Amino acid sequence: MSRVLKLAVAGLSGRMGQEVQRVAKQHACVVVGGLSRTQSSLAAMSERPDVVIDFSLPEFTAQVVRECLTHKTPLVSGVTGYAATELQALQDAGKQIPVVWSANMSVGVQILLRALESLRGAEGFDLVMEEIHHAQKRDAPSGTAKLIRDETEKRSGRRIEQIHSLRGGGVVGVHRVLALGPNESLSFEHAAQDRGVFASGACRAAQWLVKQGPGFYSLGDVLNG
Ligand SMILES: NC(=O)c1ccc[n+]([C@@H]2O[C@H](COP(=O)([O-])OP(=O)(O)OC[C@H]3O[C@@H](n4cnc5c(N)ncnc54)[C@H](OP(=O)(O)O)[C@@H]3O)[C@@H](O)[C@H]2O)c1
Repeated sequence: MSRVLKLAVAGLSGRMGQEVQRVAKQHACVVVGGLSRTQSSLAAMSERPDVVIDFSLPEFTAQVVRECLTHKTPLVSGVTGYAATELQALQDAGKQIPVVWSANMSVGVQILLRALESLRGAEGFDLVMEEIHHAQKRDAPSGTAKLIRDETEKRSGRRIEQIHSLRGGGVVGVHRVLALGPNESLSFEHAAQDRGVFASGACRAAQWLVKQGPGFYSLGDVLNG
């Protein structure tokens, strides 16, 4: 049984921060504090966290990374919509502390990526993607859509040419890849019904990360390790 991990959560008041708070106990974790615009220092917390989980927004990343480097605290980031320089800052932090970043923390999307490897050799099929999210989602296409596109290209050599983003209601997240041939078609879909799947993935990553040395890791590394 894993020991109880102490977590600090950046974005604690947000949708994902609240989910981490809700599922932490199921993963032998406890949330001991939050990092926010008004409280951005790990040193000010009464209990020192073992891991920081970041589900805030890209503009807060530099502050979160700085705190983690200062206190040598491992970082799990699920933030999406990063500019290249912001993502580079996370990758650089991995040279000094253990860092996991994934645009999608669910086990199901990792399985979807494996299924999409089967498109290798699917000549004559056009690949397109549709992603649907709640009306408040800021970035489009979603970080998961970009992850699926990039991994599909890497693993199958096939490129997803178009991504269609739909926004509305309270949809947690749907990603559908269509392989459209002249006389037949295939559909690969992942649908998240509850944000708890992402929060659980982040807690699982935190438990794994405290046993690793410095590095920049993916959720695939966590699940394979
Ligand atoms: N990797 C995954 O599996 C996954 C899954 C779902 C979502 N996400 C990503 O996780 C992030 C959060 O999503 P969400 O739906 O929870 O968003 P949200 O409900 O809008 O929450 C965002 C949080 O960030 C805080 N925040 C906003 N601007 C800030 C700033 N400038 N400085 C410090 N804190 C700031 C907010 O604090 P206030 O409440 O005080 O404004 C809030 O706590 C997004 O990037 C989203 O795309 C990732």
